[in-house]
Amino acid sequence: LDNQAFSQHIIRWYRDNPRDLPWRETQNPYHIWLSEIILQQTRVAQGMPYYYKFVEAYPELKNLALAPEEEVLRLWQGLGYYSRARNLHFCAKQIWFELDGKFPESYAELLKLKGVGSYTASAISSFAFGEAQAVVDGNVFRVLARIFGIESDIATGKAKKEFEALANELIPKDNPAEFNQAMMDFGSRQCVPKNPDCENCPLKRNCFAFNNDLVQKLPVKINK
Ligand code: ADE
Repeated sequence: LDNQAFSQHIIRWYRDNPRDLPWRETQNPYHIWLSEIILQQTRVAQGMPYYYKFVEAYPELKNLALAPEEEVLRLWQGLGYYSRARNLHFCAKQIWFELDGKFPESYAELLKLKGVGSYTASAISSFAFGEAQAVVDGNVFRVLARIFGIESDIATGKAKKEFEALANELIPKDNPAEFNQAMMDFGSRQCVPKNPDCENCPLKRNCFAFNNDLVQKLPVKINK
């Protein structure tokens, strides 16, 4: 399965099975950043009302930067991991007061923001700026491990680098945003951890795990 065939299959699946998510209807980097911070440790269904609340309360970065911290934390109530809310507020102030209100526009600049790691920087830079940076998380590990038959232990840093390198080779330069969205959805809805519906998967013919009866064995995670 070559890179182009893989991305075409994944994107075609996504176009037939898109999730209708509000942060996919915007290219506003600030709104996308809000959504990605909310979704870091929170499921989509739980995060969605918070995304709407934050966009309504603080439609522009300036509104968040100038809001009192207690108010931001109050809006965050119920989501947990409050450092996310404190970092959001910290970054909004930093961007507003120190970066002339100009939201960072590249993967490398986004990574410098407190609370933004490689996954979040990839998501924002691809969705808002069309940068070809692949998101890599547990869902992506699972999809790539199964389809390409990768047996590296996903608990290791070495494996993470390996999966990141592969994902960054696979991401199409002309359509990185859709590819990342497709990988997120394919991993969370089709190539699920337990009992995936492989019979109805468009990639089954090309899937190493399916063809070698390894679906339940991949990805490999050795608990230490
Ligand atoms: N999880 C993290 N980022 C996401 C996004 N943009 N859409 C759906 N789920 C996500």
